[in-house]
Amino acid sequence: QMRNALNRLADQIEDKKERDSFEFEMDNFFSMYQRYLLSTVSGDKLDWDTVATPKPEQVVQYGELVKNSARDGAKYLDKLAVLKLNGGLGTSMGCVGPKSIIEVRDGKTFLDLMVRQIEYLNSEHGTNVPFILMNSFNTDDDTSTIIEKYRGRNIDIRTFNQSRFPRINRDTLLPLPDSPSDPVDSWYPPGHGDLYESVLRTGILDELLEQGKEVLFVSNGDNLGATVDTEILKHMVESGSEYIMELTDKTRADVKGGTLIDHNGKVELLEIAQVPKEHVEDFKSIKKFKYFNTNNLWIDLRAMKRILENNELEMEIIVNPKSISHGGHETNVLQLETAVGAAIRYFRNSRGINVPRTRFLPVKTCSDLLVVKSDLYTLDHGSLSIDPRRFGGAPLIKLGPHFKKVSNFQERFPQIPKILELDHLTVTGNVFFGRNVELKGTVIVVCEEGNKIHVPNGSVLENVVITGSLSI
Ligand code: UTP
Repeated sequence: QMRNALNRLADQIEDKKERDSFEFEMDNFFSMYQRYLLSTVSGDKLDWDTVATPKPEQVVQYGELVKNSARDGAKYLDKLAVLKLNGGLGTSMGCVGPKSIIEVRDGKTFLDLMVRQIEYLNSEHGTNVPFILMNSFNTDDDTSTIIEKYRGRNIDIRTFNQSRFPRINRDTLLPLPDSPSDPVDSWYPPGHGDLYESVLRTGILDELLEQGKEVLFVSNGDNLGATVDTEILKHMVESGSEYIMELTDKTRADVKGGTLIDHNGKVELLEIAQVPKEHVEDFKSIKKFKYFNTNNLWIDLRAMKRILENNELEMEIIVNPKSISHGGHETNVLQLETAVGAAIRYFRNSRGINVPRTRFLPVKTCSDLLVVKSDLYTLDHGSLSIDPRRFGGAPLIKLGPHFKKVSNFQERFPQIPKILELDHLTVTGNVFFGRNVELKGTVIVVCEEGNKIHVPNGSVLENVVITGSLSI
């Protein structure tokens, strides 16, 4: 029934080229759907006894890598292409468009910073590393408008769209759209694991190979720490590894992140969703699994082509149930998704590299945004670096729901406070900060419901708890 429904969708497209591309997508969708149905029947579970901590040789220590290096990795830059995952929306931070167009620093968006990083890399080394964005149907228009301004600049920017899969009606297990031109709520981008099929479908993979590119550096669009590291590139080329996953030390705050495991002698990515319930605590253990996946990945393009041509990729399916408003009705849907790091097990000689935490600087919430906008960081050629006076990393910041949307955050922080000496900040309720505020030590501001706290211009708050209402 699903197959027939998909065929009916394809039959509505007249243009042959468009139909071929749509059919390619639907074939990929259908094979994922079949695998999903099979898994619900077989209920195949991971055998926890086969899951082991990675062996030392499966995780290279970054410090060891650079210790004796001649630091000459830049000689391999002509083999490199950089890709940013840009299919996701900024909904978790209250934005309607792509997350990458949120302003992060000095009037510049994530996208501006990424472009600047690559421009600088190229000008420093006299190279022409291409910058590629994987968009989705949700992000393509807004992204194109933004990158228009880079036309004519000395940077090779390419974009392509990842797949658009039909949402599945959870009751009928049939596709939600009736026509290929149905509105956006009938479709979804199937996770960043879709990168592989999409670089093949759009011809980007062949284009890169023809240009002599061998390595693709992939990272999340919201990870400001994911700059090109020529030492990792060098290790990739010289060791012949086909896939390198950057890992970083797990803290108690990261226990839910995917981790690298040794599975019958091969490195694999393990996500919490795959773990049998009774072993979840074991999975979260900082001792047993010391690292988590930053999603900074270095992938051999020739190997990618081989694996795709041999149809070898069968990444774990992440089932994402949602309730959406469709045609005026609340509808329960399923999205079948995959994660880009899950492909590691199909590549040869793949490994993790334990990198410093500075390579993982994601902005998931406005609390993260506050930190990267603050005096704690300086911006150089699109890269952020933490103030050397700061020991022990960034402070712990928890802003309440009033600060969830970027627009609210901006209203409540007309200027970012100085936080160089801040350890911990918690703010809940209807709180507004003035200008030239400095926060030090532990600061807690709790405004009760129905009240308002205004922190006046020029305040210096150090180790205080503020509760109540009105201006302090
Ligand atoms: P995610 O939303 O998967 O974030 O996007 P995450 O960090 O893995 O997961 P959470 O926040 O902990 O739940 C990671 C990157 O992948 C892109 C996003 O734009 C973001 O840069 N992405 C995500 C795509 O390009 N396509 C997708 O279908 C999903």
